Amino acid sequence: MTITVLGTGYVGLTTATLLAHSGHKVFAVEPNKERLHAVQSGKSFFYEEGLDPLVKHVIESGSLVATDSYKDSVPHSDIVFSSVGTPDNADGSPNLEYVFASARAAAALMKPDTTYVQKSTVPVGTGRKVQELFRSLGKEFGYVSNPEFLREGTALADTLWFDRVVVGSDDSDSASKVLNLYKSMVKHRSDIASIANLSAPKNYQDGAYIATSQNSAELIKVTANAFLALKISFANSIAKLADQADADVVEVMDAVGSDKRIGRAFLNAGRGYGGGCFPKDVSGLISSAQQYGVDIGIMQEAAELNASMPGYIANKIHDVLTHGFEGAKIAILGLAFKAGTSDARKSPGVSLANILTKRGAFVTVFDPKAIDEAREDLLSNITIARTTEDCIKDAELTCITTDWKEFLEYDLLKMRSEMQGDIFFDAMNAFDKGFVEKSGLKYIGVGR
Ligand code: UGA
Repeated sequence: MTITVLGTGYVGLTTATLLAHSGHKVFAVEPNKERLHAVQSGKSFFYEEGLDPLVKHVIESGSLVATDSYKDSVPHSDIVFSSVGTPDNADGSPNLEYVFASARAAAALMKPDTTYVQKSTVPVGTGRKVQELFRSLGKEFGYVSNPEFLREGTALADTLWFDRVVVGSDDSDSASKVLNLYKSMVKHRSDIASIANLSAPKNYQDGAYIATSQNSAELIKVTANAFLALKISFANSIAKLADQADADVVEVMDAVGSDKRIGRAFLNAGRGYGGGCFPKDVSGLISSAQQYGVDIGIMQEAAELNASMPGYIANKIHDVLTHGFEGAKIAILGLAFKAGTSDARKSPGVSLANILTKRGAFVTVFDPKAIDEAREDLLSNITIARTTEDCIKDAELTCITTDWKEFLEYDLLKMRSEMQGDIFFDAMNAFDKGFVEKSGLKYIGVGR
């Protein structure tokens, strides 16, 4: 097949690269010059484990062509994937300007039998509006909603060893065409994995291929993200209670999560969720429900609880500082919204650093990958360190806000000797309390 992928963000570039490794000719269309040049030179413009060697391989072989031209790509394609950005509107709804603009531009050039596949996360009902747009241009194409479930940091592994592929379409031929692409990727999976130096997750069982109606597929995507966000906010509510009631939320969630009906995943309390997906998808679901006249207050509560977490942690920090925030030197380790990515969008570490600074503390921050992306969101009087050592040097309190391996494995005896104070705040609940305290540091977690 010849395929065009519109947009080379996490989703678009991962999809384009894997399909180019699966026996297809793929065009990746990117209007942003800097991003385009990165892909043309065989790299991604963001950090994602294993992706660069795969991009390099297919750019060199010519099976992936990066271009800014719809004319050079779309008319030759059997399938066009749209994975363009959907930034936030001020009211929390997703801005679909690029979704419609790219659909309009592609429609003008697509062959009549081309299938249009929506990979961007869009509110339920958007596909029908895109099809109306096609009809208003005098065109009709097979349309498939194919939501993406990959996580940043594990984008390749999540796509290669998927739990499920969902294709939602009111046209079964178009749905099968897209399912077959994923089946071709599975055939090439071991070759791809060896180039990327990845291996299958333990006990992996083949994922499911799920065909649904178009609107159901759109709703599946946001429902999955909203439910995971709900689990995290639920865990954080219990953490606040555990703090007051002298219980340990990690012990609570380990036991609660061992019930197979509940599951342990996404019950880690801490500084709350960030990134380009959960915050946006939760507010997107709320606003889309409102448009259908449905009140989805449970998600409103989840979003508010999440937004409260950096402030809650700041208050806990205040309570343990001997002389309050004024003049206190605090080290924040972690600006990426999670480990394994350079992405600092809606990052809890950045929010916490800004809150502490506004309240009078001297804050120094460090992250192994996300400094460049975080820089413009950080208040100007925050010091950016170049290494973990620089960051914690002379700090009264060190706070871990991203569970990067290099922080988890840092020699805590060394940390104790480099810091001026002895308070270790684990905002990820990622450390064993006894282990930290053995090094002479005082441990504080969230709900522990
Ligand atoms: C999320 C979903 O997990 C993916 O399935 C989905 O495809 C993606 O959004 C998307 O819509 O594109 P992602 O945002 O990359 O993926 O990251 P996650 O690993 O889900 O983590 C999101 C946030 O939740 C992070 O800030 C993480 O630290 C936080 N988190 C996660 C917790 O605070 N507690 C947990 O127990 C788990």
